[in-house]
Amino acid sequence: MIIEIGSIIIMGSLAGYASLKKGGTTSNDADKIQKIFANAGWNGKNGETIRLHRKSNFSGGIEYVYQVPLGFDRKRIEAEQHILEDGLNIRHRLFEFNPTDLFKVKINSSMFKQIKMIFTKKKIDRKEIELGFDGMLRIKVYKESMKEQYEWDEGYLMNGTWSVSIGNTRQGVVRHDFDEHKHLIIAGATGYGKSAILKLIVTSLVLQQPENVKLHLIDLKGGSAFQRFKDLKQTKNYTREPKEVKEILQNIQIEMNKTYTDIVDSGFEDIKESGRKERHFIIIDEAADIADDSECMEVVTDIARRGRGAGYYLIYATQYPSSQSIPQQTKRNIPSRLCFVLDDAIASNTALGQTGAEELPLIPGRGIYKNVKSQVVQTPYISNRQIEKCIKPHVVIKPRKEESSIEYREGKKTGSNSFILEET
Ligand SMILES: Nc1ncnc2c1ncn2[C@@H]1O[C@H](COP(=O)(O)OP(=O)(O)OP(=O)(O)O)[C@@H](O)[C@H]1O
Ligand SMILES: [Mg+2]
Repeated sequence: MIIEIGSIIIMGSLAGYASLKKGGTTSNDADKIQKIFANAGWNGKNGETIRLHRKSNFSGGIEYVYQVPLGFDRKRIEAEQHILEDGLNIRHRLFEFNPTDLFKVKINSSMFKQIKMIFTKKKIDRKEIELGFDGMLRIKVYKESMKEQYEWDEGYLMNGTWSVSIGNTRQGVVRHDFDEHKHLIIAGATGYGKSAILKLIVTSLVLQQPENVKLHLIDLKGGSAFQRFKDLKQTKNYTREPKEVKEILQNIQIEMNKTYTDIVDSGFEDIKESGRKERHFIIIDEAADIADDSECMEVVTDIARRGRGAGYYLIYATQYPSSQSIPQQTKRNIPSRLCFVLDDAIASNTALGQTGAEELPLIPGRGIYKNVKSQVVQTPYISNRQIEKCIKPHVVIKPRKEESSIEYREGKKTGSNSFILEET
């Protein structure tokens, strides 16, 4: 059911709209952009305004190029991009309400919030923008919204590298190179794609680096995301039990320290320089569940701080970004973030270091990937069936815990305890 709602929509973030109207009709997007800049207070300190330098069509939209005043704060505009986007969409906003969305509501303390989000924020057919800065401010205004789903296929892989596809933009695929950018924090409200992208990252790593990736999978949502990977030969640790997490993390820390000492004692600065191929990924789905265990958090912080040199990379996902679930020191050591829609600007600020995630449309997989710059992405989607197919050649039956030997944990399988499963 699509209901078109006319021009007057009260938007907190658009305090300037009233004066925008007062100032006359906003005949085209170039005018609107200039007025939004004035109303949002983004112009120069002495009132200098941005000036339209050029306007050109490209397939799918129009690009406006502006001269900007001295002292122009690009980062601020990037963080508040939604104000610009909302401003350009103020006259015609289409809201889509799909009754089946109500079935997705989870019965818990955030139930009413989830329902409110469905009714107030689902937007379609919005004009979307992209910002660029090269001395001039470039604003691309797209006529149509970005695709809501990108099916994953093997074309997304980059075999032999640690660079994993994290999202699609209109320009192409965005990748997170773990050997360059190391750890990653993932945040987002329930049901918007955290576990899905974690599963895709694990699958990609296994396919791209089958011999070198070592996985430590901590699934505190009952195992629903990672249980499919628990029998991979690459999986060194898997748990869904909060009470097991501390021991696993502490063992990882011991190994990490040893590796790092070996690397340094051999005269190298870090794992990359040492030429060692092995990389460890400590992947935690729902980190908030260990946030009040100070011993666990101490290890997490230590891996975030020192893991990079030893090739121990942390992927840390949470639905509840707060100063407790993502401690300051962990955050400082993990500049890369992927953030799906969040409840409010405070959560966005905590997870991303900027607002904006609260303004994302309610589309699973739509997120902001922030590294050096931040960009809106749609994460590629891989189905569980496809994952099973991809990882099947890497599944081994492991010895039960009581039989498990040091050799196995060291990765030296004797062959008597393990065999490859084949489909019949
Ligand atoms: N990139 C995507 N493209 C399309 N659909 C997606 C994408 N990511 C997730 N989804 C859909 O959203 C559903 C929920 O995603 P997911 O389980 O990853 O959410 P979550 O953030 O882990 O939620 P929770 O916090 O409750 O664990 C998936 O089952 C899938 O149907
Ligand atoms: Mg999940």
